[in-house]
Amino acid sequence: MHQSMIWGVAISAAQTESAHDSYGKGPSIWDEFCNKKPFRFFGKSKVKNSHHLKDSADFYHQYKTDIDHIKYIGFKHFRFSIAWSRVMPDGVNINPEGVEFYKSLIDYCLEQDITPWITLYHWDLPAALEKKGGWTNRDILTYFNDYAMFCVRSFPQVNHWVILNEPSVFLGAGYLFGIHAPGRKSFDAFLKATHHAMLCIGMTYRSIKKEFPQHSVGSSFSMTQIDPHSNKSRDIKAARIADLLINRFFFEPLLGHGYPTAEVKRMEAIKDCMLPGDEVLLPTPLDFIGIQTYTREVFKYHPLNPFLKIKHIPAHKRTIDLTAMNWEIHAKSIYANIMKIEAYQLNIPIIVTENGVAFEDEVVLGRVNDFKRIHYFQTHINEVIKAKNEGANVQGYFAWSLIDNFEWAEGYQPRFGLIYVDFITKKRILKESAYWFRRHLNSSLYA
Ligand code: NOJ
Repeated sequence: MHQSMIWGVAISAAQTESAHDSYGKGPSIWDEFCNKKPFRFFGKSKVKNSHHLKDSADFYHQYKTDIDHIKYIGFKHFRFSIAWSRVMPDGVNINPEGVEFYKSLIDYCLEQDITPWITLYHWDLPAALEKKGGWTNRDILTYFNDYAMFCVRSFPQVNHWVILNEPSVFLGAGYLFGIHAPGRKSFDAFLKATHHAMLCIGMTYRSIKKEFPQHSVGSSFSMTQIDPHSNKSRDIKAARIADLLINRFFFEPLLGHGYPTAEVKRMEAIKDCMLPGDEVLLPTPLDFIGIQTYTREVFKYHPLNPFLKIKHIPAHKRTIDLTAMNWEIHAKSIYANIMKIEAYQLNIPIIVTENGVAFEDEVVLGRVNDFKRIHYFQTHINEVIKAKNEGANVQGYFAWSLIDNFEWAEGYQPRFGLIYVDFITKKRILKESAYWFRRHLNSSLYA
């Protein structure tokens, strides 16, 4: 593959580690969310099929096997996250055993010549901090800064840091729609949490760079391509508004453009969450922009929608190729998103920090023939390379995911891994897509 590119693979702590309440780890909001029933003790769990993250792939004990697999496949970079509540069970006090775990994991990566990229926050806030208001409490900035600096100082051999993973998703799903942890449904909470998350990226970036100027520090953003249902100007406007709400709102403030509220007056309320001087803290010269694209969405004008006048047309209504997440497969989106970031003329490297696809894979005679996943990766990587060949500053690509994992509120049914995990025995089976990567990472096909 393109030799000048960084080729890696990613996972996150809450989705793979298991050992959710052992070795000194404290509860996270996702541990609590999995336990939650609408009426205290009964009713359906908020996670499909009542799946629980404690039953995930047991990466905590099997990380060496998994890193050996990364090496075998041929990836040179591995992105994983630190569970804040493993190193600081209550978000503040240190758990030496948790620190030791990540130290061993990092050491093992380095011994195997695999470069670790660490995500500081992949959605699993310590539950103790949620009790203090979580992301809606401005004190989160101090808590997070202390946690981040503790990690960066404890693991000085790690040069690549991703501050927050997909703010739009953990804020929208967690604070506005209540479908992810912490399960809150409040517009006010959502705006506060959003502003604090944006500030957090800026402040953490500056703190790390002050002490470790040589580190490469970025953050990763969900970017979903939004298209209008038709060429009518009202549909085009609807798509523009959706793009603003789903994508631009969560990275433009960092790029120095402020919150894009002009077309959606209701979002202007975010200004009430700002203190004097915040506008100076938001613009952040990140060392790289991580983008994560999985699919595209389509919107149209809808007069009955009271505030926004837009309507989402779900993929299954458009009769197209669907994944196990009911997402459309649309490779051109990744090209379009890279080009969209390019259009800001930032001169910052773009890294695709996640891209991948879920199917309900099956083991047949000991093998998992996931040819649809191979096709997905092949077409998406081709689009990334196309953007690069046309001059885009895209420097890396991380496949999501190394192993089948806990897909948040969707539980274990959608399988994103290049490696199949039997969630009962925890046995791993490399899927055909893993062998496909092994062949291509070592070839000059894309060079
Ligand atoms: C992005 C998230 O970062 C990751 O945790 C999730 O599994 C994938 N999207 C797929 O939904």
